[in-house]
Amino acid sequence: MKTFKKFNNSFRGKSFISINQFSSKKEVEIIFNTADQMKKIVEKRKVNDLLKKYCIAQLFYQPSTRTFTSFLGAAKWLGALTIPIHGMSEYSSAVKGESLADSIKSIYQTTAADLIILRHPDDDSSEVAAKNSYVPIINAGSGKKEHPTQAILDLFTIRESFKKTDNLKVAMVGDLKNGRTVKSLALLLSLMGKNNKIIFVSPGSLRAPLALLNQLKSSGTDVWETDDLNQVIDKIDCLYVTRIQKEWFAKEEEYQKVAGCYTIDKKLMSRAKKKMIVMHPLPRVNEITEEIDTDPRSFYFEQMRSGLYTRMALLKLILLGNN
Ligand code: CP
Repeated sequence: MKTFKKFNNSFRGKSFISINQFSSKKEVEIIFNTADQMKKIVEKRKVNDLLKKYCIAQLFYQPSTRTFTSFLGAAKWLGALTIPIHGMSEYSSAVKGESLADSIKSIYQTTAADLIILRHPDDDSSEVAAKNSYVPIINAGSGKKEHPTQAILDLFTIRESFKKTDNLKVAMVGDLKNGRTVKSLALLLSLMGKNNKIIFVSPGSLRAPLALLNQLKSSGTDVWETDDLNQVIDKIDCLYVTRIQKEWFAKEEEYQKVAGCYTIDKKLMSRAKKKMIVMHPLPRVNEITEEIDTDPRSFYFEQMRSGLYTRMALLKLILLGNN
C-alpha cells in the first residue's frame, strides 16, 4: 500500500510515512537547517509560540520512552496544545474491535487535532491512517517496517559528529529483520550519497530483508553483509547497534538462539577508530555494556536530544511550511 505523497521540497500539510517520500538530499537538508534553528530555541530556554494555534495528538499503540516524550516535548517547546495518549492498545476502543481508520477519524473529531502522531504494531498502519485522516499523520514507528523520524534524528546526530552526511562507512548491527530503525536509516543514508557504505551485521536468521537490499543496491549504494562484527570494527565510522527484538519472536527458544549475539564492550572498542561513533536507537538490553557509556565515542544519549530538535522541525514544517 502506497498512499503517501512525495515531498517535492514542501512538507506543509503532508503526512510523513516513509523515507521513500524524499526525492532529494535537499529536502533532508531543509529539515536539518530547521532543526538547527529549533536547537537554538531550546538552548535559549525560551518556549516559542510558533504552533500556539495548533493541536497535536499522539496515539501510541506500542510502548515508547523516547519517541513519545520527544514529540511531546517538541510540541510543547513550540507552544502547541497537546493530546498525548499512551496505551491505545489497552485503553482505547481498539479493545472492542474499533478499526484504526475509525480511531483516527474519531480522534480528529474529539480533539480537533491539526496533526496526529502514530505508533502502531502494523507495518502498513501509517498508510492506513493517512488514507483515512483529515489531517497529516506522522509515522512514529510502524511495525517492523519503518521509523522515519528516528532515521532523521540519527542522521542529524551523524551530521553533528562528522559535519557531513556522506563518505561514511556505517555498520548496522543486530536484529536487522525485525528492527525498523535500521531500515529507515539505511534508506536515508542511501539518499544522502552513493559514497555512503552500509555494512549489515547480523546472525543469518536476522538478516535485513532482501527487498531493502535490492532497493539500496539499485540506487547505487555500496552494501555488504556479514555476521562477524570483529571483521569490520576497525574499518567503520559509525557503529549503529540495535536490540534483538524479543517481542517479534514466536518462540522463546528461537530468541535464545540469538540473544546476546553481539556485545559492544571495551575489548571491541579498543579495535575501533578513534573517531568512530557508537549509536543505538535504544532501549538497549545488554548489547552495549555500561562501561562504554563514558567512552567519548558513545553517542546514544546525545542521539536522543537530536530527536527533540528534528521533531520540532518536522512539526513546524508540516504545520507551517518551509518559510
Ligand atoms: N528509539 C525509539 O523509538 O525509542 P522508543 O521506543 O523509546 O520510542
